[in-house]
Amino acid sequence: MNLDVHLSPADLAAALRADVAAGMSASPRWLPPKWFYDERGGQLFDDITRLPEYYPARAETEILTGRAAEVAAVTGATHLVELGSGTSTKTRILLDALPVRRFTPFDVDEAMLSAAGPALEAAYPGIEVQGVVGDFQHHLGVLPGGDGDRLVAFLGSTIGNLEPPERAKLLADLASSLHRDEWLLLGTDLVKDEATLVAAYDDAQGVTADFNRNVLRVVNRQLQADFDVDAFGHRAVWVPEDEWIEMRLVAGGAQQVRIAALDLNLSFAPGEEVRTEISSKFRREGVEAELAAVDMELLRWWTDAEGRFALSLSRRA
Ligand code: SAH
Ligand code: TRP
Repeated sequence: MNLDVHLSPADLAAALRADVAAGMSASPRWLPPKWFYDERGGQLFDDITRLPEYYPARAETEILTGRAAEVAAVTGATHLVELGSGTSTKTRILLDALPVRRFTPFDVDEAMLSAAGPALEAAYPGIEVQGVVGDFQHHLGVLPGGDGDRLVAFLGSTIGNLEPPERAKLLADLASSLHRDEWLLLGTDLVKDEATLVAAYDDAQGVTADFNRNVLRVVNRQLQADFDVDAFGHRAVWVPEDEWIEMRLVAGGAQQVRIAALDLNLSFAPGEEVRTEISSKFRREGVEAELAAVDMELLRWWTDAEGRFALSLSRRA
């Protein structure tokens, strides 16, 4: 597999330092979600997708399975680009149905891409796999291709992990990098009852809690910090006015932490919360309006039978 690297380990280290320095000095404190996905984080996320409470993965798989042939018929796309591709597990449903000759998985995690790419090449010998290591918040200008034949898939409701202004910027960047008549296939989790939502982000086995705490392990390792990781609890809170789930880490007791690489000493009060991630939930009107704002026209809106998750197909107008 060919790999285009737009983010070196040094770039990532600098970005992590800047984010942690900003987030740990803010009140309330926060840590940004990009850093969940080291090797262990990627494995934990895979485990999340198999949890009984985590319906989004199953709902999106159901939609893809039912609609892949229609995606192929409507778009005829021969070049599939996938943002935040991870292990590209669900994407295989598209690769099986579309007349794809090129596949461009795009992810911030080079190790994950290096593992996923060769497996895809082995499974799809007729498809040229060209991986891109980059940050979709900064590097959409470098998407390869542009012969007017691309379908960009952005699955898993990963778009919901961005703050609304960041989300608007990503959609604008994406729309401007697409040619007329190129396509976006977007997965968005939908607003629903609070109990179902909270359970999806606070499972009984504690896998999501472990995933959330993993960001502290990343900071400990990369920035020579000494967070007592196991002393932090996990909370998932539904915020009705923003229609998003907020993930928080909660300090179990008072804790002194040193982040050596930033020469920073922090104290945490018992019960102090650190915000780590949002997961926005969507409605059709909202998605359609956000797409229209960047000149993308919504052509199809598909949900699973229970109406929990949506996959939308839109075209650059
Ligand atoms: N698409 C897969 C994986 C979702 S997990 C699915 O639906 O199951 C989110 C993925 O997005 C991870 O692989 C993570 O490394 C990647 N990611 C998160 N932030 C990113 C960013 N800013 N730029 C590129 N990739 C990012
Ligand atoms: N895109 C996924 C979502 O919002 C990411 C995710 C699933 C996640 N579970 C999580 C992020 C737990 C942080 C913590 O559903």
